[in-house]
Amino acid sequence: MRQTFKFLVGLVVSLGILTLATSAVVQRTTRRWFEGEVRLRAELVVSGARETLAAHWNDADHKDLDRTLAGITRDQRIMAAAGCNADLALLTSTPSFPPSFSCTQTGPHVMPPLNTPGQPWSVWHQSASLPGGPVLVSSIPIENEGRTLGFVMLVQDLSFAELREARTQRFVLIAFGILALVASAVTVLVARFTWRGWRREINRLARGEAPQRPEFQPIVRDVRDLVERIMVERETELEGGAWTPQRLKLTLTRHLHGEKVVIVANREPYIHERQSDGSITMRHPASGLVTALEPVMQACSGVWVAHGSGSADRDVTDRRGHIPVPPGEESYLLRRLWLSREEEQGYYYGFSNEGLWPLCHLAHARPIFRTEDWRYYLEVNQRFADAACEEVDSEDPIILIQDYHFALAPRMIRERLPQATVLMFWHIPWPNAERFGICPWRKELLEGMLGNSIVGFHTQSHCNNFMECVDRYLECRVDREQNAVIQHGRATLVRSYPISLEWPVRWLKTVPSAEECRAGVLAELGLKPDALIGVGVDRLDYTKGVEERFLAVERLLERNPELRGRFTFVQLAAPSRTLIERYRELNDSIELVTARINERFGQGSYQPIILRKAHHEPPDVFRYYRAADVCYVSSLHDGMNLVAKEFLAAREDERGVLVLSQFTGAASELTEALIVNPYDTDEAAAALLTALSMSPEEQRERMRAMRAYLAEFNVYRWAGRMLVDAARLRRRERLTGRLTKQWLGANPD
Ligand code: G6P
Repeated sequence: MRQTFKFLVGLVVSLGILTLATSAVVQRTTRRWFEGEVRLRAELVVSGARETLAAHWNDADHKDLDRTLAGITRDQRIMAAAGCNADLALLTSTPSFPPSFSCTQTGPHVMPPLNTPGQPWSVWHQSASLPGGPVLVSSIPIENEGRTLGFVMLVQDLSFAELREARTQRFVLIAFGILALVASAVTVLVARFTWRGWRREINRLARGEAPQRPEFQPIVRDVRDLVERIMVERETELEGGAWTPQRLKLTLTRHLHGEKVVIVANREPYIHERQSDGSITMRHPASGLVTALEPVMQACSGVWVAHGSGSADRDVTDRRGHIPVPPGEESYLLRRLWLSREEEQGYYYGFSNEGLWPLCHLAHARPIFRTEDWRYYLEVNQRFADAACEEVDSEDPIILIQDYHFALAPRMIRERLPQATVLMFWHIPWPNAERFGICPWRKELLEGMLGNSIVGFHTQSHCNNFMECVDRYLECRVDREQNAVIQHGRATLVRSYPISLEWPVRWLKTVPSAEECRAGVLAELGLKPDALIGVGVDRLDYTKGVEERFLAVERLLERNPELRGRFTFVQLAAPSRTLIERYRELNDSIELVTARINERFGQGSYQPIILRKAHHEPPDVFRYYRAADVCYVSSLHDGMNLVAKEFLAAREDERGVLVLSQFTGAASELTEALIVNPYDTDEAAAALLTALSMSPEEQRERMRAMRAYLAEFNVYRWAGRMLVDAARLRRRERLTGRLTKQWLGANPD
């Protein structure tokens, strides 16, 4: 109502202004018309009397002339008349002729200019004002036989024109007033109907129905976005609080309607191995990816499709390669896929780990690309994509693809299940466009990844690199504002989701207290009770900077002799990808460095570096974390690095110091760690010394801050954010699909 009132006031004011302006114009125009009429009339009257006037113009007495002029002034509107001769002298005038007008005054306007004799005289009209009102004085030449005798001056009443003007103006005002009212009423009615129509359309949209009016179509997207954003935000807000397995599950049920999740990841979470005595053991692989995803799968249930790499894997699965896990608390299915030796060689060792791994990590290893490996990579990606499609139970399932082993699978899945929500998380760094460009199959890889609905990286800079690559090597639109790539009308969102750990980490339930762990580890390693312990936990991989780490330990002992015999660095190193030459070289060189440093600073049973090259199960690793004074993560390049986070998770006692490479994704989150450049041996050695001499209070303060961060930014949040984004996208796609269908149905043309 208020809106209508405001609108009406606005309309009336503008119409008022318009009316005033129009009436001014009308006034000027009518005045011009009336004057024109009076002039014409004067000229007609004089021309009617011309002959008589000419005949008596030069009479000695002016009786006849007077009579003629008096006859002219009989016209109601002609008030007075006078005759002037060619010398501008007054011949005669009617009695009422106003003295203010004279022949000499008017003459120069009527007669031709002095220097152009022979020219005709001209008619001249002049408006003036007398006490009785406005008048028009018309001076009209009188000619006889081609000779100008003089001119007649007529004074005409113009007050009637004013009267007429006032009347016209009144009429215009009334007409405009009526028009304004009618226009307002019509506008209000039209606006009301339009508004009602719009409201109906918005309601239809909010209910997920198609718009009926074509002109409404352009705003459909905006309204839909808004509705969705509000819905998701509201729901997320309502759930609130920390991310837990329950909340993740709830998110899945609420936002994704409980649909099961299918994960595709090369590494399986449980590996069954046949031992020499014929028994079967089960181990957890050393893989950050598995560490992070296992709890997510436990919370969400569904299927994990992975390479069955264990020697006893086939013996414990059913015909379709299924085995429910985790053992004893089965909550999801592991689907194992069997690869031939050639497939494993070409796809896993070859293209994935000799090609893509060094391509994505800045660690000075040269990527090797073989056409043969590429073929296997393609083939195995197709096999995993097919397996994932076999595991789904709807046309629009949620499929989470993990890591660089499966860059092609997203598009393959999209081809089979166009409506699937395919999310990919790239667990390692993404290089810049120049570096990525050295891959002979760069286009195919990028095309494959654009089959995804969302592509996730740990950091925004990896997202930027990815978009830069797509921009440079593919024909598509990169929307940097939305962080999306649009190809063939489909969008792939590119988002950063820093990965993390479950919180609290489940292994801690089985691990003794920090004190007990320390005592156990000291005894196991034969160290004195006052020994200082440093720990490193990695797969034996050249990106982890293990050599650089040992060099920093060497520099520490070199500079601080008092630490010799007291400080021991324990490296737990899980053998990894040992069929690859570069990994074998690393193995040898690390042995050599360790031997050299131990030789240099070892005394009796004391060895500064203890290298444990073996697989360690998580509880064992956590014992070491708890026993350590310092944990050094020295990666030369790392997507995130979960060892750093595991160390913090292990330290419920709020003791111990984390020294962390600046080249890990974790460095931008764990800002209370001592951040170092692992290539700078002096800096790293100094950081180790700082860590070893840090007061318990400062240790506590730093630990507390980082642990609080991890408690909030845990892996459930990581997965939750991805799933909420996926849900939003799904809703949008479903809506768009439905809208498009309905729209096409309603408008077949
Ligand atoms: C990295 C990769 C993972 C991989 C893990 C262990 O963290 O991002 O995808 O599982 O290394 O490597 P592996 O080759 O043994 O699976």
